[in-house]
Amino acid sequence: MKTGIDALSFYTPRYYLDLVTLAEARGVDSDKYCVGLGQQHMAVCPPDEDVITMAATAALPLLRNGVGDAIDTIFFATETGTDQSKAAGIYVHSLLDLPSRCRVVELKQACYSSTAALQIACALLRQKPDSKILVLASDIARYGLGTRGEPTQGCGAIAMLVTTEPRLLEIEAESGYYTADVMDFWRPNYKDEAVVDGHFSTKVYLSSLMETWRGYEKASGLSFGDVTRFCYHLPFTRMATKAHHLLARHTGNDQLPDETLDAQIADSLHYNRVTGNSYAASLYEGLTSLLDKSSEDLTGKRIGLFSYGSGCVAEFFSGLVQTGYTDHIRRGAHEKLLSDRVKLSCDEYEAFYSFRLPQDGSDLNVPQNLTGPFRLGRVSEHKRIYQKVG
Ligand code: COA
Repeated sequence: MKTGIDALSFYTPRYYLDLVTLAEARGVDSDKYCVGLGQQHMAVCPPDEDVITMAATAALPLLRNGVGDAIDTIFFATETGTDQSKAAGIYVHSLLDLPSRCRVVELKQACYSSTAALQIACALLRQKPDSKILVLASDIARYGLGTRGEPTQGCGAIAMLVTTEPRLLEIEAESGYYTADVMDFWRPNYKDEAVVDGHFSTKVYLSSLMETWRGYEKASGLSFGDVTRFCYHLPFTRMATKAHHLLARHTGNDQLPDETLDAQIADSLHYNRVTGNSYAASLYEGLTSLLDKSSEDLTGKRIGLFSYGSGCVAEFFSGLVQTGYTDHIRRGAHEKLLSDRVKLSCDEYEAFYSFRLPQDGSDLNVPQNLTGPFRLGRVSEHKRIYQKVG
């Protein structure tokens, strides 16, 4: 039985900061951000958007024509949780008017949890093949103002419909996975920003790639040459370039020209370059970018996916692109979303960044900005109250 991704939708907020503007404000050579990290813009979340509104907006187009009525499980993957107890997906379930005969749960393991959600969804479908599962990944990458991590911020959400008749990507059963107790990046509950040992995190990312590749190779019997395109977790696009060249060397493929290696990942990088890191959503934003942007017909091709979540858990797995996939991608909608965004000045970005919801239970009407069809309208008595926008 096949299981995999039937439909994919991506959402990122309506605002962005150009990294040249950020570099000027921080007194840094803009090539460091644009060439050294490989980033152009970073998506900025206004106060009335959060992981819930982003995920609901990403999911909305996938649920038309009665699909929503068939959803019986929602997995919400995030490391930007809004509550220690209540799953963020319950608000999404409500905003999208999904059936009450549905289970909803939140998963956390840094940027990796979306892959856990996808794998669990595929396993559940083998037990109940006629159900449809909604996997949501939504995050806001946030570091301190003026820190080294700041230019790698970003935000966004991915919605994936996972079924036994996947029209985009069949997920193959074999994978390599790996866990190690390391402190490369973490987000204590009492802090608004991540704590990160950035250079160490890039080292652990690369060593985890080697470990998971070994496991994948052993489990699948496949080699580097059996994979046509690669999608990597994308904290910033240069990380994928480094990872892919290292994997080629490690697997004895260093005779391949740089252009060939770069072409194997290039299409997966477009969206991340202009949104920045979206943590749990980032790998699947890369997959969306690859399917949307590839000028080559990818039908029948094997895509390798590397998922990394600091702390750390990692997994290398693969999928086969399905016949007719181009009829089911949302390229036009994604491109319009990105091209319609509003550019912020550095002061405007810092004002959004500095906004905080009250923590004492008092009432606040959240200032209205440009959003998708859902917004966080109010908080009152520690409750988040969402609105549908006309
Ligand atoms: N022109 C072109 N490239 C330049 C440059 C310039 N003027 N100045 C620096 N660079 C290059 C550096 O050589 C480096 O490239 P290299 O890694 O190939 O050598 C790159 O830009 C980054 O510079 P670096 O000095 O390493 O940046 P940094 O120390 O300020 O921070 C991170 C980089 C990634 C550690 C930091 O952004 C971070 O902590 N990010 C958050 C954590 C993260 O994303 N981790 C990834 C794994 S999950």
